[in-house]
Amino acid sequence: MQQGSVIIRGVGSYLPRKILTNHDLASMVDTSDEWIRTRTGISQRHIADAHETCSDLAYVAAKSALENAQLKAQDIDLLVVATMTPDMICPSLAAILQAKLGLRKVMSFDINAACSGFLYALEVATRLLQNGNFYKRALVIGAEKMSSLIDWEDRSTCVLFGDAAGASVLEHTSTEQVGILDAILRADGSFSPGILYIPAGGSLHPATTDTVTQRQHFIKMNGRELFKTSVRLMGKVIEELLERNHLTKADIACLIPHQANLRIIQSLAQSIGLSMDRVFCNLEVTGNTSSASIPVAFTQAKSAHYFRSGDYIVLVAFGGGLTWGATLIKW
Ligand code: ACO
Repeated sequence: MQQGSVIIRGVGSYLPRKILTNHDLASMVDTSDEWIRTRTGISQRHIADAHETCSDLAYVAAKSALENAQLKAQDIDLLVVATMTPDMICPSLAAILQAKLGLRKVMSFDINAACSGFLYALEVATRLLQNGNFYKRALVIGAEKMSSLIDWEDRSTCVLFGDAAGASVLEHTSTEQVGILDAILRADGSFSPGILYIPAGGSLHPATTDTVTQRQHFIKMNGRELFKTSVRLMGKVIEELLERNHLTKADIACLIPHQANLRIIQSLAQSIGLSMDRVFCNLEVTGNTSSASIPVAFTQAKSAHYFRSGDYIVLVAFGGGLTWGATLIKW
């Protein structure tokens, strides 16, 4: 039985300093600013330096969220990191970050659900915090160094992604019916491989000279198929979430979708009958930062006063796997 609620007490984000514009990309592959902007809505993306690791990005976002929550590292009881670009396959990014942040020796683990990762991480942390008996506060992070997985010779993917990290501090409170109210998370592995995958580097195809030569360590994607599927699945899961909570689209003050493609977001808004002035978008300047996209957008939407106390916010994502889902928050 649920006792109390789990609220988001603080948020923070980090975008690496280096900016790669569409014009920069046009000098690297056969593309143009016009193609990228009209097909995706993206004008630029942030790219980490070679020496800047994914845990470095996560560290800055986490520090900023702790500061925003007016808490110290010692106050955290649980660390969950969503990422598909950890510094290494082992140890987890969360274990590395636990030490970097100087957290107590708390349970720290990674979740890989591609671009839906942050919503998965939020749900797992919320369930662990929900009765307040075992854990009181969690740091939930989405961090990606997507530039490390990109084939910079493949114009169909290299124009889409960027690097970033976003973080939230979750806290159990005895107040009922506030904060993270509900979530629906889904996965369907029958879609992949083929729609979005990285063929080599796992146990199926460990790194060999051939896998490297054949560029098998980079993201491969069927963008057109993903586009259609994502709009349908995200629309359906939002409707399911609203219905289950006896709400309608009129109750949504702010929708924060995964920032993959402006046309996907516009099609989604149209399919559920939500006007774009209630949808937060920042992908023009960030590109698709996978699991970092929603926590970064959330931090920026909060700063821009996109929502106020008492408002309903819906987060929605889709990603490789396929994975998808939506989260309902009462701010
Ligand atoms: N510049 C110029 N031309 C290009 C580029 C480029 N960067 N990329 C592809 N093209 C060409 C193609 O070669 C093709 O040419 P052709 O007609 O001569 O064969 C043409 O443009 C159209 O290609 P499409 O792939 O059909 O273009 P589309 O309109 O579908 O847009 C896009 C492609 C932007 C990738 C779109 O399909 C999309 O955004 N899909 C969703 C992708 C997504 O969200 N991925 C992230 C998943 S999240 C995660 O888990 C990481």
